[in-house]
Amino acid sequence: MTLEAYHTLRPFAVVGEQLFVKAGARGLDDPAYELLAQSLEPYGEEALDLNPGVGRVTLALLQQGLRVRAIETSRAALRCLEAGLAKRAQVVRGLPWEIPSESADTVAMVLPAERGTRYVELSLLGAARALRKGGRLYIAGKKNKGFDYYFRLAREILGFGVLIERKGPFRVAALEKEKPAPPLPPAWGSFSCRVRGKTLEFAYLPGVFSAGGLDPGSALLLENLEGDLGQVLDLGAGYGALSLPLVGWAEGLVLLEDDWPSVLSAERNLGAQATVLHSDVDEALTEGRTFATIVTNPPFHVGGLVVLETATAFIEAAYARLERGGKFYLVANRFLPYERLLQDRFGRVRTLAANSHKVLLAQKLG
Ligand SMILES: C[S@@+](CC[C@H](N)C(=O)[O-])C[C@H]1O[C@@H](n2cnc3c(N)ncnc32)[C@H](O)[C@@H]1O
Repeated sequence: MTLEAYHTLRPFAVVGEQLFVKAGARGLDDPAYELLAQSLEPYGEEALDLNPGVGRVTLALLQQGLRVRAIETSRAALRCLEAGLAKRAQVVRGLPWEIPSESADTVAMVLPAERGTRYVELSLLGAARALRKGGRLYIAGKKNKGFDYYFRLAREILGFGVLIERKGPFRVAALEKEKPAPPLPPAWGSFSCRVRGKTLEFAYLPGVFSAGGLDPGSALLLENLEGDLGQVLDLGAGYGALSLPLVGWAEGLVLLEDDWPSVLSAERNLGAQATVLHSDVDEALTEGRTFATIVTNPPFHVGGLVVLETATAFIEAAYARLERGGKFYLVANRFLPYERLLQDRFGRVRTLAANSHKVLLAQKLG
């Protein structure tokens, strides 16, 4: 897929209306969204969608006549929501547990199970706090992705709940807020680790990649960097694992990251020592901005599915954003077929190190 194709928003017809979809955005092919959209019953006037993706459930809430705020963390999904629904719903970049309390009558959420238990628990607490007394929470999820556990937890938090729909492994439950919501526990975590002879401290929000410890692939990439780095771009930066160790070595650091909790974590870790941008691949960079070094540990999961389209876009963006002679370091699980993609784009690729992961280096010669 070319970079242009990756960044293209495509209209998508659904229930007589139009949404926008694009590569890298969640919420289109996941049956949990469709089932939730079909099971919702209007309650009150103000609704929240706490995991909208491209907006299938937001659209259902709008069609039921509710005023809707769609709270999304992914920049790729926000691009779709802004294109498809911004005129009708309030599209907000934000954290699901930081909604003003008692501000909604209905909350809908496809459980973000792939983001980890702590992220879902905080999202459920956020939903409970956002609801007015008597308000309704609709959740959808998959039985083998913790639905029963999260349903039980939501019932404990809110007071009352019933299963209203099941289709194959997918479930939808409706709950009612019968009691005040418990306080939110602190969301931030932190850990320290040694990288290239220095002890570094990392803070992180729930749901970020490799929370609680440096990813072994990222550690391997850092061990294999050498020479002058010049201006460095960190593509898919997470909480800043690859960038914080480069402070004082790189001439300048720009971090691009699709996920808002990761952006907030990287900002906390790097402060004024870097520029952190909420960006779907390289869309937040100005045209023509290039770098001497690009580092990445690319994603290969979207909504739990293994997809290489975002990683392919990372490779295309790296090529486009490197100056002549610039170096692209990529680390990945050993089983992922990046050599061929790098070979096709850069003409040559070297393997610098390999264990369970491999560090690949490609240089822009042309
Ligand atoms: C494997 S993690 C690596 C994170 C970090 N660099 C590290 O080494 O710990 C891949 C990162 O890419 C981010 N990502 C996924 N899709 C993206 C996109 N379209 N644009 C930018 N970043 C994206 C993910 O949110 C995730 O933080």
